[in-house]
This record gives sequence, structure tokens and C-alpha cells, in this order.
Amino acid sequence: MIKFSRDNLSLAFERFGHGAPLMLIHGFPLDHTIWDEIVPLLKDDFDLILPDLRGFGQSDAADADYAMRDLADDLAALLDHLGLESAFLAGHSMGGYVALAFASAYPRRVRGLALVASQAAADAPERRQGRYAQAWNIAENGIGDTVAAMTENLTPDPRVRKFVHDLMRRQKTSAYIGSLKAMAERADTMQALEESAFPLLLVHGDADGLIPVERAREIQARVPRARLVELPGCGHMPMMESPRAAADAFLGWIT
Ligand code: MLT
Repeated sequence: MIKFSRDNLSLAFERFGHGAPLMLIHGFPLDHTIWDEIVPLLKDDFDLILPDLRGFGQSDAADADYAMRDLADDLAALLDHLGLESAFLAGHSMGGYVALAFASAYPRRVRGLALVASQAAADAPERRQGRYAQAWNIAENGIGDTVAAMTENLTPDPRVRKFVHDLMRRQKTSAYIGSLKAMAERADTMQALEESAFPLLLVHGDADGLIPVERAREIQARVPRARLVELPGCGHMPMMESPRAAADAFLGWIT
């Protein structure tokens, strides 16, 4: 992987293909390899940039707590490092929260935003408390309970479930804890989306057991310019469960 430095952290990313810059941002608690199957389908049309968010994959973990805004700033620093003023951003689940934080902080750097199995709503109070309890449990007992709970609801596809389970097991405890807190404290971005002007794409499986497809439908109802692509029978991992359909959604959106 390629590395660059920001905030005393070494942050890793991959880059493939040529065309309009499209940053593919992974979710929690994963890394850039979730996009592996879609890269060959997009690399002739896009300059694909695949970061490992701080703490995940081959990127360093931060010592202190951080917010979605810090993760967004990491991505802005990556664009600076690449000499790119703006890019299309596609965020999977938590990666969507990072993309939304980026769009709030740097609206002029966003050529378009895609939310893949993600949402604009903030956590309800009980969900927020649940994340703090989950972070505490991880600090005390390790990642096992979280991995088991997420694996169960992730996808109907056993091959994808195994890949993601193994990937989750490899991630650092500090990244779990740091991003759970950042997710708990993230802002609601629905109104910002309503007021934004960039092209908006929503890709969501109608069998997603972690973030129900209703969340995407709510965005579409509030932001009529959004293009919603629902993938039948697909769970929380569209880029792995339905890579062709997910790639076609990107291609049809931008080209
Ligand atoms: C993710 O897949 O990134 C997370 O499940 C999102 C969340 O917990 O809200």
C-alpha cells in the first residue's frame, strides 16, 4: 500500500485506474479490501482511491479520541497529498458518515456523494448509549461479542459473511473503540444534504439487517434529486454481494 503522514499518523491507501477521481471509503470495522471485487469493474472509468481509515487496515491508530471530522480531515489531507482539489466520494456505512462529515466541512471539494448501505440520521439516544457500552465491553473483553453480533446481521451470503468476519477479527481494538465513539457523537446530516447541491447516489440492499433500506428511502424522500438504487436480496455489503449491480449504479450515476 501507499502511505502518507498526517497528524503524526502514517495513513495507508491504494490507487487504481484512471478517470474521474472516486474515493471509496470502507465501513466499520473493516478496511479498503471490501472494495476488491468492484475495483476491476470501475478502474477503466475512475481514478479509484481506497483509504484505510485511521486505525484500520494498514493505517496507524490514534492515541487520543477523535471525531468524524478528524476522519474527514484525513481524507482532505489525502486529496491534498494526491494534488486533487475535489473528488467523488462513496462511503460504505460508517464510511458514509465520514463522507457526510467531509461534505459538511469541504462542500466545494465534493463532486458527488454516494452512500452505500449508510444513512444521514444521527444515533438515537439509546443507540448512542449502546455504542459507549459496546466500546467499554471491547476495552474489557475484546472484540469477540461485537464481531459475533455484526456477523450475524451482515449478509445472507455465507461467502461474504466469512470474508468480513475474518477481516473484522484482524482490526485493532483501538480502532473499534475510537470509531464507536466517533459514530456515537456524529451529527445528523439530513438537513445539510437537503441544502447541498452535489449529485447524490444511494445504493442499498433491501435485505440489509444493520442499516435498513428505509434509511435510504427517507433520504430520497427528503432529497428528491438523490438517485436510489435498491438491490434486491442484498444485505449490508453491496460491493461484495452484488458487485456488478453496485458498479453499474456508479457508472450510471457519473458517466
Ligand atoms: C458499519 O457497518 O460501518 C456500521 O455498522 C455502521 C453503524 O454501526 O452505524
